[in-house]
Amino acid sequence: MIPVAKPYLGEDEKNALSKVIDSGWVTQGPKVREFEEIFAEYTGSGYAIATTSCTTALHASLLVSSIGPGDEVIVPSLSFIATANAVLHSGATPVFVDIDPETCNMAPWKIEEAITEKTKAVMPAHQMGLPAEMDEINAVAQGQGLTVIEDAACALGSEYRGKRVGGEGNLTCFSFHPRKIITTGEGGMITTNSSEIAGKLRRLRHHGMSLSDLDRHKSGKVMIETYDETGYNYRMSDVHAAIGIEQMKKLPEIIEKRRKIAFQYNEAFQKIKCLRIPNVPPHIFHNYQSYWIEMLDDSPLGSIEVMQRLLEKGVSTRRGIMAIHKEACYSGYNNHLPETERIANHTILLPIFFSMTNDEVQYVIDGINALFSY
Ligand SMILES: Cc1ncc(COP(=O)(O)O)c(C=O)c1O
Repeated sequence: MIPVAKPYLGEDEKNALSKVIDSGWVTQGPKVREFEEIFAEYTGSGYAIATTSCTTALHASLLVSSIGPGDEVIVPSLSFIATANAVLHSGATPVFVDIDPETCNMAPWKIEEAITEKTKAVMPAHQMGLPAEMDEINAVAQGQGLTVIEDAACALGSEYRGKRVGGEGNLTCFSFHPRKIITTGEGGMITTNSSEIAGKLRRLRHHGMSLSDLDRHKSGKVMIETYDETGYNYRMSDVHAAIGIEQMKKLPEIIEKRRKIAFQYNEAFQKIKCLRIPNVPPHIFHNYQSYWIEMLDDSPLGSIEVMQRLLEKGVSTRRGIMAIHKEACYSGYNNHLPETERIANHTILLPIFFSMTNDEVQYVIDGINALFSY
């Protein structure tokens, strides 16, 4: 069976883990700080704050932006459900907007239509690793005085107009779930250029404590913490961070390999007229965290049928990105979002991962070709 995704983990991660265990310092210690520093430098951001997941990173980013009950946050519905859940958990209301079908990302021209006097923030997701049109989104947000929080769960290493995602200055949240570009098992990261916001986020993730364990440990004098605000336990452990540090070293080769596989898929599938392949605008560098194909109207097979036939041949796939507003738990938010619904219903994700062999890539291509008699 060819899996849809597989993390690239090995001896380096095992060795790093055993060093953390031997050190006896397994959470909020030197490895978390080192991972944050490497991450901030890589993304070109001033500060990086590690969390337990992207979902908690999004939640903390909303809270630190003073978003809460009575506020509205504009989000795409074509995203993993965590994007909207984080807004609900902050007490605010998610307002769904449709996507640009070319990129499957939030359509900047839909944002203005959705703004009300309650709107406080816009939360674009860089879907499947492809950066959203940030110049246009930032311009609308600036014009209306809105906060921008980027859901970059999938977009580590992708670039928008020559700048890595996370380096733009907005609060930007990443995921290290095993389906993502690098993994720590579970984990997340927030980037920001504001030292004040970074400080607030560090306190918020650590029960609102005024002092980090590492700073107290390094200090030569007795230090007593205070709790001036109510916080959370969103702390990443040093066990996770040690894996993350090793994964960051592998990131360039991971992205290079994924792009190579994506280009092989592109070349094969662009010949099949009833399929659409991802469109990458020229000003974007795509990490190909996911690779999707869309079954067009003249396709003889629907997406579920294609997935079932591939599964029978030993190729695992996943449905395309979900339409959050179609799930029962968001039934009260029933927007009409035709592009989102079309893409959610007619796309599937194909296997793409670092250790995928050429034979496996060819097997997937042959499997798709056979289905569409190409
Ligand atoms: C766009 C998007 N946002 C948020 C998340 C949540 O990430 P995590 O599992 O790290 O909380 C995911 C994960 O699949 C995602 O794809």
